[in-house]
Amino acid sequence: MENQKEPKLVTTVNISNDARLAIMELANMISVPMSLNAVVRLNVADSIWQNGSNTPLTASEILSRTLSSGGGDPENLQRILRMLTSYGVFKEHITSGSERRYSLTDIGKTLVTNENGLSFGPYILQHHQKELMKAWPLVHEAVVDSSTEPFVKANRGETAYGLYGQNPEMNDLMQKAMSGIAVPFMKTVLECYDGFDGVQRLVDVGGSAGDCLKMIVQKHSHIKEGINFDLPEVVAKAPKIDGVSHVGGDMFNFIPKGDAIFMKWVLTTWTDDEVKQILANCFKAIPVGGKLIACEPVLPHQTDDTNRTRALLEGDIFVMTIYRAKGKHRTEDDYRELGKLAGFTSFRAIYIDYFYTLLEYKK
Ligand SMILES: C[S@@+](CC[C@H](N)C(=O)[O-])C[C@H]1O[C@@H](n2cnc3c(N)ncnc32)[C@H](O)[C@@H]1O
Repeated sequence: MENQKEPKLVTTVNISNDARLAIMELANMISVPMSLNAVVRLNVADSIWQNGSNTPLTASEILSRTLSSGGGDPENLQRILRMLTSYGVFKEHITSGSERRYSLTDIGKTLVTNENGLSFGPYILQHHQKELMKAWPLVHEAVVDSSTEPFVKANRGETAYGLYGQNPEMNDLMQKAMSGIAVPFMKTVLECYDGFDGVQRLVDVGGSAGDCLKMIVQKHSHIKEGINFDLPEVVAKAPKIDGVSHVGGDMFNFIPKGDAIFMKWVLTTWTDDEVKQILANCFKAIPVGGKLIACEPVLPHQTDDTNRTRALLEGDIFVMTIYRAKGKHRTEDDYRELGKLAGFTSFRAIYIDYFYTLLEYKK
C-alpha cells in the first residue's frame, strides 16, 4: 500500500485460543450483513410471519413461499438461517431427526412488512446497494486522505446524496429506508416527549418523505402548519399529507421560518463546519424563545461492547465511509458546544430511545 511503512518484525507473540477464535469471527463478519441482505431480498421474514402466525418453517417451505418461479437451494438458505439464528434474527426449532425449522425472534420481526408497507428491510437494502458497497474496501483511505470520502473516491467523484438525486431508484429506496426506521422511533418520541407543546408552525429539516412530521401534526392538533423541508428531488416524491406542505431547498442556504424546528438524523452526516452552518441557519429561522429539536445518534464517552455502543460506533464508520470523511457521530458535549457556537442559550439531551438522543436547543 502506498505511503505505508514496513512493520517492525517481532520475535514472539503469544496468541490464546480465545483470541484466535475472536479474530476469526471478526474476519468473517461480512457474512452477517450480507446474509441479512439476502434474507431481505428473498422476503424470508414475510413468508414466515404470514399474518402473525410465525409458524416455524423449514428452508424448503420458506423457499416455496418466496420464489414464485419455484426451485432454489434449500440447503443454502438453511446455512444462512442457521448463521443468522446465532445472531438472534431467527429461532431454530430442531424437530424430528435433523429437520430444522425457523421462526422470527423480536429482531427478525423488524423485517416484517407492516400495515403501512414499512419495515427495517429497505434500510438493509439501502446500505448494501452496489454504489455504497464499492466504498467499503476504501475505508483506510479515510485515514490516509480524509479530504474526500471513500464513497466519492469509489464513485467517480459523485457524493452519495448527489447519486441518490440522479437516480430515482436510489432516491425511492432512501425514502423507504428512512420511513421504516422513523415511524417506530417517532411512536416512542410522541409517547415520552412533551417539547412540541405550544408550537404552531413546525419545520422538519431534512424530513424526507414527511413521516415524522405527519405523526407529530396528527398527535398535536395545536400545530397549524407543518413544513417538510428537504432537497427538491426528495420532496418531489413525498406523498401528500394533511396539514403538511413540502418545501424543496438546501439547508446550507436557507431554512423556512417556524416557531420550532425538528430535525432527525441530519447533523451526523456533516463535518463540524457544516453543522455550524446548519445550526446557524436553524437559529435564524426561529424566534427568540423558539427551539430546535434534533434527534441524533449520540456517542457515550466510554467505549464498551454493549449493543448500543456498537450500533453507534458502527454507524459512525458508515458516515465516515459514505457521507463525509469528517462527518461523525458526536458526544453530548460536542453537540452542546456546537449549539453554543450557533448562539443557542440553552441545551438539554433527552435519552428516551437507545439509538437516537433528543437534543433540545433554545434560542
Ligand atoms: C439520514 S436522512 C434522514 C431523513 C429523516 N429526517 C429521517 O430521519 O427519517 C437525511 C435527510 O437529509 C436530507 N438532506 C441532505 N442534504 C440536504 C440539504 N442540503 N438540504 C436539505 N435536506 C438535505 C436528505 O435528503 C435526507 O432526507
